[in-house]
Amino acid sequence: MFFEWQGNQPVTLRCIDKNTETHDTVSIKLADLRESLLFQFKPGQFINLGVEIDGKMEFRAYSISSINGDDYLQLTIKRVEGGRVSNYIVDSLLPGDTVQALPPTGDFNCIDHPPAQREGSTKTLLISAGCGITPVYSMAKHWLHHAGQENESNVDIAFLHIARSPAETIYFDQLETLDAVYPDFHLKLLLKNREGTAHPQGRLNAEWLQELVPDFRERTVYLCGPSQFMQDVQCYLSDLGFDMANFYQESFTPAANAESVATETAGSTESVSVFVPDFAQTLDAQKGQPLADVLENAGLPIIVACRSGICGSCKCKVRKGSVTSTSQETLTPEEIEQGYVLACSSSVESDLEVQIG
Ligand code: FES
Repeated sequence: MFFEWQGNQPVTLRCIDKNTETHDTVSIKLADLRESLLFQFKPGQFINLGVEIDGKMEFRAYSISSINGDDYLQLTIKRVEGGRVSNYIVDSLLPGDTVQALPPTGDFNCIDHPPAQREGSTKTLLISAGCGITPVYSMAKHWLHHAGQENESNVDIAFLHIARSPAETIYFDQLETLDAVYPDFHLKLLLKNREGTAHPQGRLNAEWLQELVPDFRERTVYLCGPSQFMQDVQCYLSDLGFDMANFYQESFTPAANAESVATETAGSTESVSVFVPDFAQTLDAQKGQPLADVLENAGLPIIVACRSGICGSCKCKVRKGSVTSTSQETLTPEEIEQGYVLACSSSVESDLEVQIG
């Protein structure tokens, strides 16, 4: 039986396992509270996870690293400087604890964007760095798991991952096992410090790309990692004449977008008000302030997970007044027409009347 999500409302899941992956990264497994139910998602997608910290529920988005159809969801979480939710999970969340979760979402997945078939074969190149390994690891396991099944063609996978050292490579042992067991899985690990392993040492550039995956032009590329890394790799591919129609990347860069909205706020002193009739509250705000901050600071029940205009959890309806939005990514044309906005990516421009959700 499959786990059933409650529309776009948070559901309660239990942490059933927690493993250390590297010195600053853990994997947690989440399951239904009572039964062994199977979780469905598209490999590459993420969920918005909520934990209660100091009496306040806070949400963040994390990619899923388990296989579609497992009876748990696995997330891999790295400590980040100032990362309240991530650091809480790394340090304090224990098996048996409960969390809140929203349904899997995200356009970066290998179902909506399957790899191209060429002359009867399907080849992919998964490129990742750091915690960006999580969604592409789920894609690789999906293809290996379904290899040879009816209506499924085998996918030849080049798995190019960049890390500091074996000890700091998330899933290091599992990757080496996949490489040893599956003829269609080719691990290409490029390390800053190889510490006695056979994996090469270097910094990814166009030369390494060609050396490690000489047939990269025949593959569909899926890329995930820090934003500068993704920009660099995209340039290498484009400069090397790669057909960018066969290129997909995760656009999930919370810090960058949150900063860009915050920057617009700096220096503004013009006061406006935000009226939220459903909660009988009129809130003070600064012109240019992110709408999500105004609502969150007042303790209203808005879920702000990715803070990057990607997940859709912070959707609000602006009934009166105007905002400037940097993302409408998850909204339909009808919703935009009706006045829905993503509060994390919208700055207040005038007095507003707002409906949450
Ligand atoms: S918090 Fe994800 S879209 Fe706003």
